[in-house]
Amino acid sequence: MNILITGSNGLLGQYLVRDLANEGYKIIATGRGNNRLPEYAGVKYISLDITDKAAVFESVENNKPDIVIHAAAMTQPDACELNKEQCRATNVLATAYLAEAVQKSGSNIIYISTDFVFNGKEGPYTEEDTPDPVNFYGDSKLAAEEIIKQCNTRWTIVRTVLVYGNTLSGTRSNIVNWVKDNLEHRKNIKVVDDQIRTPTYVEDLSKGILLIIKNKAEGIYHISGKEILTPYQMALQVADYFSLDKSLMEKVNAATFSQPAQRPLKTGFVITKAEKELGFNPVSFMEGIRKMYP
Ligand SMILES: NC(=O)c1ccc[n+]([C@@H]2O[C@H](COP(=O)([O-])OP(=O)(O)OC[C@H]3O[C@@H](n4cnc5c(N)ncnc54)[C@H](OP(=O)(O)O)[C@@H]3O)[C@@H](O)[C@H]2O)c1
Repeated sequence: MNILITGSNGLLGQYLVRDLANEGYKIIATGRGNNRLPEYAGVKYISLDITDKAAVFESVENNKPDIVIHAAAMTQPDACELNKEQCRATNVLATAYLAEAVQKSGSNIIYISTDFVFNGKEGPYTEEDTPDPVNFYGDSKLAAEEIIKQCNTRWTIVRTVLVYGNTLSGTRSNIVNWVKDNLEHRKNIKVVDDQIRTPTYVEDLSKGILLIIKNKAEGIYHISGKEILTPYQMALQVADYFSLDKSLMEKVNAATFSQPAQRPLKTGFVITKAEKELGFNPVSFMEGIRKMYP
């Protein structure tokens, strides 16, 4: 089976390429610019900017993938808020190009979406809850979901929450590394304690998507960790794991920070559907930290 992945240089994309290639799938990895991953057997890399409509059509047409996993996106909410046109081009218009291309080629599509489609008033959320984004990033991801739902080939929307892990090409900024680096350098940090999330270890997300492929699952799935934590509670676990000084951490409310994009307060997911239908079983946050730093 051929699988085309967009955003293969990104955090999730890198793990998808590795894990799906290890399962014996033929992978067409596509990313912006040069390949940032090691070579794996059965993986072909193509440089693809998803905002280039003709290039999107060409890559799907030439490779005739059975499945497209669309993981590329403009992922920073503040950048999306400040550059709405670029966000719309990347997250919405490019998804429309891919949706049109897969319908022409008869490929199925798996779209990676976010907890930021919800307003955060009453999370954790199930697949049945009604989206209502509070920022432009969330708006763009919801608009892309609506495009995917119109596809006449099999479609799956995988929503996820606060993904953490180290990229395979190096480390990357995430809650675990941010807390670790600051406390190791004895820097004081302010950590939010009135937001809730269900943080997701990147390998679990990749495994969840593999389960979706194997089960030919369609529709919407919430794939995240199952522990409901505030960022402050996550930071405490990081400090515990590395035996760092917790007195450097100050508990604050999200309202302390003024950021260009508003954040939904209480998100996180109920993952019962994925557990029951797919056998999805994510690690605890502490176990995720251990996997990043064994
Ligand atoms: N990380 C999270 O906490 C989180 C939470 C919920 C949902 N998600 C969703 O999960 C998916 C994967 O995110 P991630 O965590 O892997 O983020 P990421 O590391 O930022 O990866 C996104 C990738 O998309 C690529 N990209 C951006 N614009 C592109 C373009 N015009 N053409 C081709 N590629 C382009 C980026 O390329 P460059 O490497 O060149 O920048 C990057 O490699 C996204 O759809 C995101 O919305 C992520």
